[in-house]
Amino acid sequence: MTSQSVATAAYLVAALLFILSLAGLSKHESSRQGVLYGIVGMAIALVATFIVVADAESTGAAGIILLLIAVAIGAAIGLWRARVVEMTGMPELIALLHSFVGLAAVLVGWNGHLEDNFLTGSLEDIHNAEVFVGVFIGAVTFTGSIVAFLKLSARIKSAPLMLPGKNYINLGALAAFAGLTIWFVASPNIGLLIAVTIVALALGWHLVASIGGGDMPVVVSMLNSYSGWAAAASGFLLDNNALIVTGALVGSSGAYLSYIMCQAMNRSFISVIAGGFGMEAATADDTDYGDYREINAADTAELLKNASSVIITPGYGMAVAQAQYPVADLVKKLRERDIEVRFGIHPVAGRLPGHMNVLLAEAKVPYDIALEMDEINDDFDGTSVVLVIGANDTVNPAATEDPSSPIAGMPVLRVWEADNVVVFKRSMAAGYAGVQNPLFFRDNAQMLFGDAKERVEDILREL
Ligand code: TAP
Repeated sequence: MTSQSVATAAYLVAALLFILSLAGLSKHESSRQGVLYGIVGMAIALVATFIVVADAESTGAAGIILLLIAVAIGAAIGLWRARVVEMTGMPELIALLHSFVGLAAVLVGWNGHLEDNFLTGSLEDIHNAEVFVGVFIGAVTFTGSIVAFLKLSARIKSAPLMLPGKNYINLGALAAFAGLTIWFVASPNIGLLIAVTIVALALGWHLVASIGGGDMPVVVSMLNSYSGWAAAASGFLLDNNALIVTGALVGSSGAYLSYIMCQAMNRSFISVIAGGFGMEAATADDTDYGDYREINAADTAELLKNASSVIITPGYGMAVAQAQYPVADLVKKLRERDIEVRFGIHPVAGRLPGHMNVLLAEAKVPYDIALEMDEINDDFDGTSVVLVIGANDTVNPAATEDPSSPIAGMPVLRVWEADNVVVFKRSMAAGYAGVQNPLFFRDNAQMLFGDAKERVEDILREL
């Protein structure tokens, strides 16, 4: 058996492990096992890559040394980032990692053109088309992911960029890509490759810049999908089956996740992946909602003592404050008093899918009292007290009541139907989507200002 066929077999095993990994990650109970399959699959793929490089006549020992250096640098950066990243910083880290996949695909594409391929006839045409497709998807992913990173880390404003005729700009870029590809296949030259790279870099930037803050969760999973297709395109160029299969897995699972999230947020999938196609800029909200009422921790504790049922709706602020541990203690205390306590989890609460579930699991809150939005939304009516802990957009009634709101149509937790609502936050500032929340001004709502963790600890002392 040649080392090439050993490597091919190893790549196949790795691909199977990646499929098992995805299957495992789809459920809480099997997610650890899913991660383990992924690690083993990646280790096998790496070893197979070493075998391929060691065997290649053109690279030899120098190839192995270069590969070792690249792996060491990548592993060191990966370990360092994974150790220091806060849970709240995960989406921007993921966006940044996607940009690397995009950049790699661009470099592989360029290399595919510059290196001698000894191909002729239709094989050469196919190769040239692959170069263009790889560079195009890679460059769109690269700049798109960088904009997503900048928006998520609040380095640039999250409001959508609304250039006049933005849909025509996107369509024009796609048409230019199609035209340039045909031209390049007919007569390959470096000028065309430079042109398509510039068009794709600009398109990626514009696509993501055009999408507003509230839709960013979908953008991150969409870029995840693009990075998969970029990797698959590189796989074709490098004739590497593992890259093709893994890229297709990432591409299709990312697309499916984007679709699920669009449904959860009542957004049009096509509109979001086409850079906000058909969306109009929302008008500025200068509505006077009247006055809000404040409450302190002692009075909140009193309210809870007299409650028969409590629903907690956590959001990004709970993650920032790391309030999940005192919240778990609060749940225990209330349940000891025979008060029914449940959580209402919005699908995009926090900054990444499943963010709240991870935090609550960390604090050992039982799974069976953490309910999805659809499971709990009809129960707010008749609930004595709702504690909104660091959530804002996900409990905003404007989404259902104000068609001109930027988050109009997004399903939200209908907390305002409860008898009493206590909102934990530090100020009257807006949430991620940058819109004011009329909930805070309702007659049955009161604001408990301050850091969520400190306030929950104050309530615990009072209880
Ligand atoms: P947000 O609407 O972002 O609101 C979070 C609230 O927490 C803010 O109003 C903030 O108010 C408060 N807060 C921050 N730090 C706090 C602290 N230490 N103590 C107490 N309160 C604190 O959160 P949400 O309701 O979870 O909604 C999530 C938003 O993020 C949605 O718009 C969603 O589309 C978007 N998003 C979600 C994802 C995913 S996949 N989940 C990814 C990217 C973006 P103060 O500043 O006044 O304290």
